[in-house]
Parts: sequence; structure tokens; C-alpha cells
Amino acid sequence: MNRINFLDLGYQPLANNYLNKNNKNKKEKKYRLKVCFNKITKVVSIEKTFSSKMMFNNRYPYRSSMSKTMIKSLKNLSKLIKKKYKPKKILEIGSNDGAFIKNFKKNEIIGVEPCANVETITKKLKYNTYPEYWSKKLSKKILKKNGAVDLIYSANTISHIKDLNEVFLAINIILKKDGVLILEDPSLLECLKRNTYDQFYNEHIYVFSAIALENILKKYNLGIFKIDKLSIHGGSNRYFIKKIANKRKINKSTNIHKKNEINYGLENINTYKKFANRVKKSKNQLINLFDKLRKKNKKIIGYGATAKSTTILNYCNISTKSIDYFLDTTKDKQNKFTPGTKIPILKYKGFIEKDVNYIFLGAWNFKDEIFKKENIFIKNGGKFIIHTPKPKII
Ligand code: TMP
Repeated sequence: MNRINFLDLGYQPLANNYLNKNNKNKKEKKYRLKVCFNKITKVVSIEKTFSSKMMFNNRYPYRSSMSKTMIKSLKNLSKLIKKKYKPKKILEIGSNDGAFIKNFKKNEIIGVEPCANVETITKKLKYNTYPEYWSKKLSKKILKKNGAVDLIYSANTISHIKDLNEVFLAINIILKKDGVLILEDPSLLECLKRNTYDQFYNEHIYVFSAIALENILKKYNLGIFKIDKLSIHGGSNRYFIKKIANKRKINKSTNIHKKNEINYGLENINTYKKFANRVKKSKNQLINLFDKLRKKNKKIIGYGATAKSTTILNYCNISTKSIDYFLDTTKDKQNKFTPGTKIPILKYKGFIEKDVNYIFLGAWNFKDEIFKKENIFIKNGGKFIIHTPKPKII
């Protein structure tokens, strides 16, 4: 066996499966969440995967446009794309509610988004979006109707698709010979450095390193020519990829990044075993922190009922005994309950109730944006609980 399990995050429900009043008391299905490392390809992935239909359907609650940080990052990227690559036709795989495509003219961009409840948002705005899973069949269909594309962008999507063979064959069908593929996903290096084990949940099948991604890409005659490090989502990489036959110059960031990964030990199973030990320690520290505060009768709420926080809450057994409720700006999460741990999720009304002492940051990846927004809470002595790089109060 080339795959070695190195991390066991216990029994977990599907991360975005928010409960409602009707199904809250029914028995939830839970699955063992284990993470493994492939000795040959260096790919890190979760062991048990689910069908796309189970995870990405017309009840999908996630909206990219919920954070100003995200909107700004995509706006800046769009400017860079227009200036540097001047594409006439762009395709986005995983266009969600249009946070990226809205930066382009309607005849310049095509979106693919299988969650029909989300795709209707862009369709209503008259964008050319397809409510379908990315596949060779769809790629051929789009090619026939719109021709080949100059640039493909996909953020936080490829890491959600098990069958990468289908993904890259489909990309090769529609991407022009001199076209550019831009992929953006959480960085494995940052995940290990920051101990953000909550990057692992049923939807995040892969957390890529540049080394692993390159090993995958070469099978499809694709190669990385530049890597930008981003602060978004707790440290992501933006990979600029070309067809290998294309003569585009390889930027030095590619080798620098790969070297950093090798120096950190991302090719070596021992690095992952050490990470797993840090994760266990982090769990105990977080539990102790909550216990200590609750014993002092402190009121703790959660901020951002993220899919990531499903992993933390279930792994650390954090329930309403520790957190009274979560606040979230996403309509489809409000008046529901967190998967597995059944903590109520309330609508964010623009302020924090006066009796709240501590906020657990489920959306820690938007910490700076949230701190700015909650300056009154901070001024009044309110504090935050964060689990990365280790559990602490800030
Ligand atoms: P993500 O980390 O998976 O992108 O999810 C972020 C979640 O946090 C999403 O449900 C929206 C929520 N959120 C808020 O409720 N308020 C905020 O200010 C921000 C930035 C996010």
C-alpha cells in the first residue's frame, strides 16, 4: 500500500450538513475521518470519500461572496489576469455565487457550478453558467458552443473532486495550447505549519503541496510556471499552470516554493506523524481552555459556522456546553444547527450581544476582517478564542 494513514480525526458528520428543527433530533450519519499520505505521489488526502452528489447539490450552503477579503482578492486577481494575460474567453470551474465572474463582462466568461441553488444566482444576473459537474462531457459541450478558452480559473474546487483524472482531461480538452490554468487551494505547507487540521473534512479530499500537484499535473502534460503565496483561507497557493509544450518561462517562485516544501519535510512521512501529534495536543489544549472559561461562567459564542469548524467541534467534542450559539451571515446556515454538535446558528445582526465574553473564531481565516468589524466588542473588553497555531485567547 502506498497510502499511509497518519491522522485520525474521529467520527465526523458531513461538514456542511447543517441540521434544522425537524432533523436535529434524528440520528446523524457519521464517518471516520482519517488523513493519509501517498509515499509515491506525495499526495495528502482523506481516506474515505463521498459522492459529489451527496456533498454538492441544490442545498449547498456555502457562498464565496460572504467575505470582503475574498471579494477583494478576486477583484485584484481579475485585474492581474486582464493586464497580464488579456484573455478573450475565460472559464471558471466552481463559480459559486459569482464572486469571481462578476469582475468580467458577460460575453467574456463561462462558469460551471453544480450546486443549482447557487448557480441560479449567476444565471439570474445573465451570466453564462452551467449547473453541472465538471467533466469531459461538459468540457466538450462548452467547447462546441463557445470554442476553446484562453484561461481557466478554479479556486477551492479541484481539491473537492476525487477524480482528478477526469478534471485534468476535461481541462486539456478546452484549454488552448498557449492557455493558462490558474488553480488556488489551501497550502499543505501552511496547514502543517499553522496546525490547521480543520482544513480536513469530507469536502476537502486533497490538501495539495506544490510537489504533489506537480506529480499529478505531469501525467496530463501540464506544469506549474509560477506560484503566488496568498494569505486567504489561512494560507493558500495560487498555481499558474501551462501545457508543458508551451514555451512560457518558469518563474523562480516555482522552485523556491518546492524547495521550501522539501526543506520542511513534505516528502517524508515523519513530518506528518509529528503533525498528528501536534493536532492531538491542540485538541487537549482547546478542551482545557473551554473548560477553564466555562468554570468561570464566561459566555462563549462562535463566529462563522464554517465547514472547517465542523471538524474542530466534533473532534474536540465541543457542544452547547461550551458554545451557546454561532453567528453567521449566510442565510442558508441561519436558524440551523452545527452538524454533529447541534449548536444553534443565529443570524448576524451587525453587533455582538453585550453579555458575550468570548468569541470562538470558526472563520479564523477571516480574522483580520472580523476584528475590524467587531472593534466595539474588542473595545469593551471582549476576547477571541482561536485554535491556530495553537489554542489561545487573543
Ligand atoms: P469559510 O471559512 O469556509 O470561507 O466560511 C466562512 C464562514 O464564515 C461563512 O459561513 C460566512 C461566515 N462569516 C461571517 O459570518 N461573518 C464574517 O464576517 C465572515 C468574514 C464570514
